[in-house]
Amino acid sequence: MELTGGRPLHGKVRVQGSKNAALPILAGAVLHRGRTIVDNCPEITDVRWTVRILEELGCRVRFEENRLEIDSSCLQSCRIPGELGHRMRSSVVFLGSLLGRMKTARIPYPGGCTIGKRPVDLHRKALEALGAVITEEEGYLCAETSGMEGTVIRFPFPSVGATENAILGAVLAQGSTQIYGAAMEPEVLELCRFLNEKGARILWKGQGEIRIEGVKSLQDSRFVLMPDRIVAGTYLFGAIVSRGRIFLEQAPCETMQEVIRTARLMGAEAEASAGGLWVDGTRAWKSPGQIRTAPYPGFPTDLQSPLMTAAALAQGVTVLEERIFESRFQTAPQLRKMGAKIALEGRTAVVAGTRRLHGAQVEASELRGGAALALAGTAAEGVTRIRHVEYIQRGYEDLCRDLQELGADVKIQDVAS
Ligand code: UD1
Repeated sequence: MELTGGRPLHGKVRVQGSKNAALPILAGAVLHRGRTIVDNCPEITDVRWTVRILEELGCRVRFEENRLEIDSSCLQSCRIPGELGHRMRSSVVFLGSLLGRMKTARIPYPGGCTIGKRPVDLHRKALEALGAVITEEEGYLCAETSGMEGTVIRFPFPSVGATENAILGAVLAQGSTQIYGAAMEPEVLELCRFLNEKGARILWKGQGEIRIEGVKSLQDSRFVLMPDRIVAGTYLFGAIVSRGRIFLEQAPCETMQEVIRTARLMGAEAEASAGGLWVDGTRAWKSPGQIRTAPYPGFPTDLQSPLMTAAALAQGVTVLEERIFESRFQTAPQLRKMGAKIALEGRTAVVAGTRRLHGAQVEASELRGGAALALAGTAAEGVTRIRHVEYIQRGYEDLCRDLQELGADVKIQDVAS
């Protein structure tokens, strides 16, 4: 991707469907012996890989114009091949749904990834509590059950993935399940809404508590996926970085309160209006002070890198504390190449704002960090070239198109990655 900086973002852009909601929902579709339609599904690489997994399991899938149709009446396999599972860590959520539907599953052990270790002990404990026996064999997690049974699950930390796996494992279980310490992210709520439309009986009690009454089977359904709060947040920081003024059509403002609060601390105006969010970053030049990432409703770890880019161009010192993933600061050395002043110490990044960044050749090494580099490129003096945009394409339908719509000078280079 090649960007020539200096044009403030302006105009409007439509926010795509949510990646983090889509993936567990697609895994949830296999719980049902029948049809599922998901509209507003983002056309991103991670969804395409998940479609490949569904097809590998025996589902018939059609994916056109953001509509995904899944027929999972004829599931034949309970195994996810290594090359598919390793590409996408989130494939671990198939463990709960395959156990629920087929009583057995074999999933590649999700290895570490560039943002941190990402263990699966909480996923395992929750599914074992529901009656699964899980072993590790040659890099695979092998799970079996004679029948999932409702139970009480207490999470010591509100893990998003483990909560989703527990829900998926409990929907068709016999009896009722109570989850305490559950993750309360909007994407987890979206999974519950989706499953309830399919006939599940999930009660979202709030404050980390979810109750699930097991049902015998699910029904056909059609679901419209929520917009992506992380994509909306990325563009919000784009307006701040470039001192622009934009409208984010369909931005899910009610799920973005902490992000909006941070933007206002920086001097931005952010107003929810019918159908979206206005962001005026023309006077957003202040550091927001100290920000730490936290489970919802705290500041999302997924927006820590876009915030770092904004902090790099703000007046004053910003202290970013990353509390979810231990190594999510890989963007810092790349931003430094562009003139950012960032010091790292453990889980803390200290960003001393500077007036200008300059274009440079940089490398994306993960999804949100890659998007943060693109934001930096919109504001930097001169030309920024980003290698490995395939990371960005995992979660953004077309970041280049969206930035162009907002007036940025950006194109995809015609070279390998
Ligand atoms: C996390 C984020 C989610 C984000 C997603 C993609 C949080 C709480 N979760 O979800 O918002 O959209 O990454 O970037 O912000 N953990 C364990 N054992 C486990 C599972 C997790 O110790 O079995 C720990 C992890 O190491 C991590 C924390 O729990 O420190 C959060 O992990 P989790 O919420 O499970 O990660 P994701 O589901 O990937």
